[in-house]
Amino acid sequence: MRALGIETSCDETAVAVVEADAAGLRLIRQRLATRPEESTALGGIVPELTVRQHLELLPKLTRETLEAGGNLNAVGATAGPGLAPALLVGLAFGKSLAWARQSSFHAINHLEGHIFSPFVSRGKWPEYPHLALIASGGHTLLVDAPDSSRRKVVGSTRDDAAGEAFDKLARMVGLGYPGGPEIEREAAQGEVGKIHLPRPMKGSEEGDFSFSGLKNAARLLLEKQPEMARPGALRSYFCAEAQAAIAECLADRCRLALKRTQRKVLTVSGGVSGNRVVARALEEAARSEGATLLSPASGWNTDNAGMIAAVTARRHLDGADSDWGTDADPRWSVASDQNGA
Ligand code: KG4
Ligand code: ZN
Repeated sequence: MRALGIETSCDETAVAVVEADAAGLRLIRQRLATRPEESTALGGIVPELTVRQHLELLPKLTRETLEAGGNLNAVGATAGPGLAPALLVGLAFGKSLAWARQSSFHAINHLEGHIFSPFVSRGKWPEYPHLALIASGGHTLLVDAPDSSRRKVVGSTRDDAAGEAFDKLARMVGLGYPGGPEIEREAAQGEVGKIHLPRPMKGSEEGDFSFSGLKNAARLLLEKQPEMARPGALRSYFCAEAQAAIAECLADRCRLALKRTQRKVLTVSGGVSGNRVVARALEEAARSEGATLLSPASGWNTDNAGMIAAVTARRHLDGADSDWGTDADPRWSVASDQNGA
């Protein structure tokens, strides 16, 4: 069967088609456009610009994606969580396309897409049980998945998401957006421990994450040493330390959750999972608990439509169509007991 997925939960506009059967799946084609240039210049998401981009690009990207030909059995669109007006555009477009092509329609949870990505980017369906870390610009969550129908959030951020912390710290020292890759690049010239930044929640018996203390400590440090925000050795020390602090916090929380759940597979997804220092720290955490780490293949870390098409295909194969009246839910939880959209 073939499934088309639409992703418009934030500022990426993406459409992908996958071919799938009970044994696995493969990506046939994907078209993806990142945030409008004006938004980057303005330093954040401008809903009006983002929605206009989705409206303009969806028909074009869909046409290009469908040029690969073949039947379309299912259409899915991200219905949440995300930016409400952005979700509404993708969802309405997805329903119309599904109706016109007489295919099944599926409202997809964006976070479930991330959870699928380490597996489906390698052509496989998710394996259970596993523990999933989602570390993106909007979310930092640890999800325990005992089987395909149950998901429990065992840790979440009390303030900023890990990617948001990268973005804010990068901005503080004059680096561009997205901040994660900028910090990673700059940190490669630096050294950890030359300056000190805190590791919030590290060692805590509570399972949550927190990154606002890191941001505040960085702000105080920069007030004392403003030259840290200019190109040079000091800025690279700052970036190396900030990156190490975030990586250690993520790894520490995963170690605790692995210990508690006794899962032997740890997965990671979301933009931050592309960071090599983070990946190394997570690998070590998994190994120390006798588990293995599974990361998305390149191109599947950040927001994409392949992961949405993959969940759509799974739903279609399971005969679990969505109601045509399903609405967008900007706060749709990934926990299985709130899966009712
Ligand atoms: O998953 P994603 O595309 O979007 C959300 O669903 O939020 O993640 C984007 C986030 C941004 O905050 C970006 O700075 C971060 O992922 N990111 C990284 C790296 N690449 C992207 N953070 C650290 N290191 C990277 N290499
Ligand atoms: Zn995302």
